[in-house]
Amino acid sequence: MKGPVEPFKIKVIEHVGMPDEKRRTEAIREAGYNTFLLKSEDVFIDLLTDSGTSAMSDNQWAGMMIGDEAYAGARNFYHLEKAIQDILGYKYMVPTHQGRGAEHLMYSHLVKPGQIVPRNMYFTTSKLHVELPGGTMVDCIIDEAHDPENEHPFKGNVDFKKLQGYIDEYGIDKIAFVNIEQDVNMAGGQPVSMENLRKLREFCDDYKLKIIYDATRSSENAYFIREREKGYENTPIIEILREMMSYSDGCIYSSKKDCLVNIGGFLATNDKEIFEATRNMVVVYEGLHTYGGMAGRDMEALARGLKEGAEYKYLKYRINQVRYLGSLLMDASVPIVKPTGGHAVFLNALKFLPHLSREKWPAQTLAAAIYEDSGVRSMERGAISKGRDKVTGENIFPKLELVRLTIPRRVYTNTHMEYTADSVINLYEKRAEIAGLRMVYEPKYLRFFQARFEKIDL
Ligand code: F0G
Repeated sequence: MKGPVEPFKIKVIEHVGMPDEKRRTEAIREAGYNTFLLKSEDVFIDLLTDSGTSAMSDNQWAGMMIGDEAYAGARNFYHLEKAIQDILGYKYMVPTHQGRGAEHLMYSHLVKPGQIVPRNMYFTTSKLHVELPGGTMVDCIIDEAHDPENEHPFKGNVDFKKLQGYIDEYGIDKIAFVNIEQDVNMAGGQPVSMENLRKLREFCDDYKLKIIYDATRSSENAYFIREREKGYENTPIIEILREMMSYSDGCIYSSKKDCLVNIGGFLATNDKEIFEATRNMVVVYEGLHTYGGMAGRDMEALARGLKEGAEYKYLKYRINQVRYLGSLLMDASVPIVKPTGGHAVFLNALKFLPHLSREKWPAQTLAAAIYEDSGVRSMERGAISKGRDKVTGENIFPKLELVRLTIPRRVYTNTHMEYTADSVINLYEKRAEIAGLRMVYEPKYLRFFQARFEKIDL
């Protein structure tokens, strides 16, 4: 395939450095072979994350100039509230500084000690914010999601047998709520179908269970529904989004992804009780309920970005740029998660580096090697991210041991995708020379952010 035509032109550019081989080798050693600990100035193409890394439009920048920096009741709060009502269809919203602020408020309110939260697949911060108030997050995604080669069009779907199994095992009172992520990050950016969401609503209604979405990448999920699900071929994205949300009781949202802004988040709901409880707690942890840790200008950029990020023309370009990188790698037989997801291309580190045991952290090793080879920064999404078992303290080795090449929105050109693909293909040809890593420092929470490693000999 060819790279998609960008539906915009470039008005402002940012210079980036291109560290030489010697500097790259030094920089990754100094960073303890953890790409989170690299300095941005040592990175050429930054595919660490799609979070907070988007390029804003002239319309969003213009909106920032009408930021109303009042402590209370800023006009931009009301613009944001209206945008959420119009696009997602929720009546109430509580702003937060970013997604994990919303997770904290929502999950600490809904989870009681000893309760279980089934979710299609865990995400790092979501799992932690369920564990902190004493809960446990368990996965109920379909088996296909654990198989990188399986081309199921909706690998984010819930497996109802697994969900029923948790209800039978723990009892309905032990289930706090059901948590569904759209465009499941840890599964490779894989969508959930509308049919699955609709069925889940019926299933949960029978048990009077609440459904809370992690709607962080719901616009990209809506694009896949339009592309792949019968009956939605010509449906406007906003209509798809509103139908998706109508099957939930509320959502948390990190606006640093699909909303095309650099900071911000919110939770939204139609449930007055959830709204009142979380609106009260937001003043303890984030800021007043009409800004929640965002400046007025941030809320304006977010209100506008939520709309722009739900435009079909933009989403078509976005998803196809990610797919373009995926197709370049697949053409060279590099093992990736299929089909290519919404926000990133995920390399299958177990197949890429089959000579490394799980204890040598193949995905962490591969992310460090890619940086050293070409200055492209990616991220481990495997056993280091998953962490340890809460009870036994043992490392958990999930089936998926991946490296995420995450594409910021509207930031890189198709030529940057080609450079990245060339470098990964080059490394794939030399893969037998890549040695593993030993973890030498491990922080207690979310270890992947700050853990440090040393190289071990082949
Ligand atoms: N939920 C999902 C699905 C996410 O991907 C993230 C963040 C969050 C919640 C938390 O939001 O960062 O605004 O506090 N994901 C980033 C990533 C960090 O790189 O995937 P946040």
